Amino acid sequence: MDVLVLLLQLLMLLLTLPLHLMALLGFWQPLCKSYFPYLMAMLADNANRKMESKKRELFGQIKELMRTSGKVALLDLGCGTGANFQFYPPGCRVTCLDPNPHFEKFLTKSMAENRHLRYERFVVAPGEDMKQVADGSMDVVVCTLVLCSVQSPKRVLQEVQRVLRPGGVLFFWEHVAYPRGSWAFMWQQVFEPTWKHIGDGCCLTRETWKDLEDAQFSEIQMERQPPPLKWLPVGPHIMGKAVK
Ligand SMILES: C[S@@+](CC[C@H](N)C(=O)[O-])C[C@H]1O[C@@H](n2cnc3c(N)ncnc32)[C@H](O)[C@@H]1O
Repeated sequence: MDVLVLLLQLLMLLLTLPLHLMALLGFWQPLCKSYFPYLMAMLADNANRKMESKKRELFGQIKELMRTSGKVALLDLGCGTGANFQFYPPGCRVTCLDPNPHFEKFLTKSMAENRHLRYERFVVAPGEDMKQVADGSMDVVVCTLVLCSVQSPKRVLQEVQRVLRPGGVLFFWEHVAYPRGSWAFMWQQVFEPTWKHIGDGCCLTRETWKDLEDAQFSEIQMERQPPPLKWLPVGPHIMGKAVK
């Protein structure tokens, strides 16, 4: 199987050679950073329609974390266009964080459409280094479709632990690898090097549930979901929460 993967990867590489050359020469990344927010904005409504009941169920639990003041400090990690805002309950004070500054325009629009929330600020930084967010300052961190794209899920989860207060909760929804040895996993391996460029660093074969289990959370609840679109190499999803 390994030789077959290598051969098919090579074929994909040849078919998409201009893309890989542009990436090698450093031309692709700036282009990708500018178009990716438009792509996410196009996909957000459809994804939210498909996931509506699941997202409502997940983010509905934020109400349980309200302080006596009726407020919740929430960090939207890798916020993108702000696709999750509509599911957060009133009382959330939302800090947005994303390394891509080109999302700001889309965030501003989502904020205007979701006046039930209070927006604190937009921090342009990677999740691996959130020094602008104070220790123990967050009741909730939300991370959806982000751990596939970060450089180091381990370091991001360490940072999540640092910024969460004791008892604070990470809510996550991530796509992950198909089971090793399956044909679907093989195709994920074949497409990954090209997909990574198109999808702004998105890896298809991450076994993110292992990173979550290895992080030092006191409790984790996780449900596995089938892939929403079978024809895409994006695999099954995991959704749940981890308590600090
Ligand atoms: C597929 S989008 C998901 C956006 C949003 N969370 C959603 O559910 O629609 C992935 C997001 O992760 C962000 N991202 C990439 N690398 C990151 C990193 N190292 N730390 C934090 N966010 C990152 C991207 O800029 C992008 O906004």
